[in-house]
Amino acid sequence: MDVTALIDAVSRTKSQADELTHQEVIDQLSAALAKFTTSAENQRFAEEYRPSGNYTRLLLNSLQDPYQIVLVFWGPGKGSPIHDHDDTTGVVSALTGATKEIKYAVTRHVGACVELAEASEFTIAPGRITPILPEDDKRLHLMVNEGTCWAATVHVYLTAIDRYRQYEATPGGAFRTAETRLWFDEWGVGRRMPTGAVRARSRKG
Ligand SMILES: [Fe+2]
Repeated sequence: MDVTALIDAVSRTKSQADELTHQEVIDQLSAALAKFTTSAENQRFAEEYRPSGNYTRLLLNSLQDPYQIVLVFWGPGKGSPIHDHDDTTGVVSALTGATKEIKYAVTRHVGACVELAEASEFTIAPGRITPILPEDDKRLHLMVNEGTCWAATVHVYLTAIDRYRQYEATPGGAFRTAETRLWFDEWGVGRRMPTGAVRARSRKG
């Protein structure tokens, strides 16, 4: 599946979302993202891309769309803090590498802070999908590339995220939330990715 077909599939799910259960939304997005991330052409694009920094975030679709498809490059050892996704539904997979995900559940509210417990661990790799859901044990996670090579992950957010929260550890062990604006190094990057039309043209001549 090329990037144009992935964008079409996400757009279709977005327009049907009101009539679908969370699980049906996740199933539709997962099926499309699994096809996209197991495509050799898409994987080659990620392998050959030279990111500008050791944590580079590219929006594949347009900034104006009501959903986001984000390609993230992780340098060796690079990880994210624990964060939420502003209650969007979504799915995450990878074009290259094996990135570790740990999901966290909120176990207690302590004043302005929360206590967190690890809920699950997953290895994000091509064709392997982890869901993002507004449910308590599927909202918060961190990701880390523990490998010695670069990793490239793909994140589909069915509702475009503007602000989200990072969770910072306090000396007492609880976590304090810090509101953060989602930023991109570039957008519209899908226009530079291989598509079926380009392959058909290059085969012809
Ligand atoms: Fe995330």
